Order: sequence, then C-alpha cells, then structure tokens
Amino acid sequence: MIGKEKKAISKSARFELDQTEMETVPYLDLRAQYRTLRTEVLSALEKICESTSFAQGEATSDFEAKFAAYCGVEHCVSLNSGTSALHLALRCLDVGPGDEVVTVSMSFIATAWAITYVGATPVFVDIDPVRRTLNPDNLEAAITSRTKAIIPVHLYGLPAEMDRIVAIAERHGIPVIEDAAQAHGAKYRNKRVGQFGQVACFSFYPSKNLGAYGEGGAMITNEASIAHRARSLRDHAQSQKYLHDEVGYNYRMDSFQAAVLAIKLKHLDEWNTARVNCARFYTELLKDSSYKLPAQMSDSECVWHCYAIESRERDRVRSALQDFGIQSAVHYPVPIHLQKAYAHLGYRSGDLPLTEALCEHCLSLPIYPELSKEKISRVASVLLDLR
Ligand SMILES: Cc1ncc(COP(=O)(O)O)c(C=O)c1O
Repeated sequence: MIGKEKKAISKSARFELDQTEMETVPYLDLRAQYRTLRTEVLSALEKICESTSFAQGEATSDFEAKFAAYCGVEHCVSLNSGTSALHLALRCLDVGPGDEVVTVSMSFIATAWAITYVGATPVFVDIDPVRRTLNPDNLEAAITSRTKAIIPVHLYGLPAEMDRIVAIAERHGIPVIEDAAQAHGAKYRNKRVGQFGQVACFSFYPSKNLGAYGEGGAMITNEASIAHRARSLRDHAQSQKYLHDEVGYNYRMDSFQAAVLAIKLKHLDEWNTARVNCARFYTELLKDSSYKLPAQMSDSECVWHCYAIESRERDRVRSALQDFGIQSAVHYPVPIHLQKAYAHLGYRSGDLPLTEALCEHCLSLPIYPELSKEKISRVASVLLDLR
C-alpha cells in the first residue's frame, strides 16, 4: 500500500496494519548497543566497585589518555558534562564580565550558557546555509575590541569551516574554542576536530556518538597550562587539599562513566562509519525528493550525529512520521538568540534569517549505528509518499 491510498486511511486504521509494516522506528536505540557491550561494561563497573575508587581514579586517567590520543592532542581533562567543559574553557582563557564571545545561535543552548556563566556576552552570527555552521563571512564584522573568544559549533557532526575561522581569529589574536559536543571523531581536512582551537569541548551525554551511561564531558588541548588550570578548577581549585586559590567547581567525571567511555571509544570509528552508511542510504533514497538534504562536504568527514532534512511543512511531516511509528527530533525549534532567557540581549526575529529558517524547517531523522537499511527504507518511503 503506497501513496495516496495510505494517506486516505484513518489514523486508527493505521494501527491495524500488519505488525511488520507498523514496527516502530526509534530515533535512537541505545539498548541495541548495550547488548553488544554488556559483559565488558558490567565487569569494568564491578572492578571499580571492588577498587572503591569511584571518583578521579585510575579509570578517569586511563580514559583521558585514550581520548587525547584518539583526538590527536596532548591533554584531555575529563569532566561531568559538555556544559562544564565549555564553562571551564572560558575560565581557562580568562574570559569574564565585560567581554564578548562570538558564536552561533544554531546550537544547543549550553554553548551560550557557558558564556553567560563567566559573565561575558554572547554575540551571535548567522550560519552558512549549506554547512549550517558559523559562516566565516559574518565573523569579522562581529569582532570588537571586547571579543575574547570565538566558539564555532560542529553542528550535527559536521565540522565548521575551521581554516577560515582560525585564520580570522589569528589575525585578531582571539582564541578559538571548538564546541565538538556533536562531532566525536569528525575530521576537517583529514584532521580530527579538537585540533584546530586552543581548546575543544565534548559532551558524552548518553545520546552522543560517544555517550556515557550518565553525564560526562571533556576538554582537550595542546596547551599544558590550560590543562593544568582546568584540572584544578574541576576539583574545587585546590592547590593542596582544602586550600583553594580561586573559585572552583565540582566538575569531576566519575569512574563509572570513564570506564564505560573507554570501552565505547574502541568502537567509535566503526559506529561512526555505520552512521555514514545510514546517511548515504537516506541521501540515495531521498535525493530526488523536494526535501532539502544535508550537504556532504568534500573537505570534511561528518560523523552524522544528526541527519537533518529541511521541509517547509516540517510539523506536518513530523506528525505523519509519528503516525507510522517513526520517531524524529527537532534540533532546535527555537534559536538561542530568540529564547526567553536571552531576551535581554535585544535580538529580534529576522536578525539571523538563516538560523531562524533552519530552526523552522529542520527535522532530524532516526540515525544510530545499528539502524537497519530496512528501517531507513521505511522512513524514506513514508517521506516520499507525503510529497
Ligand atoms: C552543541 C552542544 N554543546 C554543548 C552541549 C552540552 O553538553 P552536556 O549536555 O553534556 O552538558 C551539547 C549537548 O547536547 C551540545 O549538543
């Protein structure tokens, strides 16, 4: 049953369709991944229980060494979230009240929270409509004498245009912090993200390409002094036990998360490749449709944290997918500059037209390493029938 015929049946009748056709397609299936790792994970967690080294023990330093090596940098500082990583990155660069930080509004709100936490002001620039990341053409005009950092976001797993961004930043002597929360393992000009800025920040939230079994994050850098300061700040800024030289935080990663992440890191490349294959298959099936598909950039290896299509009828398309048991997501429905929390900054609708259009039209389709071709075909066929 295809096309018009399917559209004509009532919602309740759809649930009577045979079981195979109505098998749900989750947006993400973390259970499928856990099944393949269960024995190894549980034995690593048991080892930690036996050692009683629950915080900042051997497991965290082991993961830090492995993740730094994977990213091709000198230092990794494990933390309790990606938000903490961005916050500490700004603290380590001494960004504070009165300063400005240029970033994108097309991101998860945490990118801006971190700027606000240090008392600085976020300055949002519009995105490149193809890449959907910070448009270097807009960067120079946003820089003032108060700009103390630039935070490009590797949105949906695709690296921002780092060579142009870094060239502008260097010309002005401004440090770059990469928000790589959605791009573990992605490459730009054959180098992994995290190697372009002074600092890069990762989230290991469970749904990320490299996800913990709880909260987690990390800051990576080649600068020893930054790593040293971040290690101090994450642990209450103690120079010696119970002696605190500045205001610090409890941002440590717990050992359970580090152990899980070290196990999962071994599979990250293979999982990212599986995501690439899912994305390719979606693109092949949808290429002749009128949906705007995510671009494949020849300078980058995207890790497809999201496969976000664009449609002017996004909400109708989303609800039709839902009727067929297909989950989807919207990353993000309201851009940061138009969020109530940032009303005081004075941005208006229309200030960042490309960001606003993407928020209005974007729809993230199910994507995860174990997603079968059969399920992708089902998603695509529902989408194609809708046109
Ligand atoms: C682009 C981006 N930055 C920052 C974060 C914050 O990470 P966390 O949720 O681990 O604090 C996220 C998480 O969703 C993100 O997607």
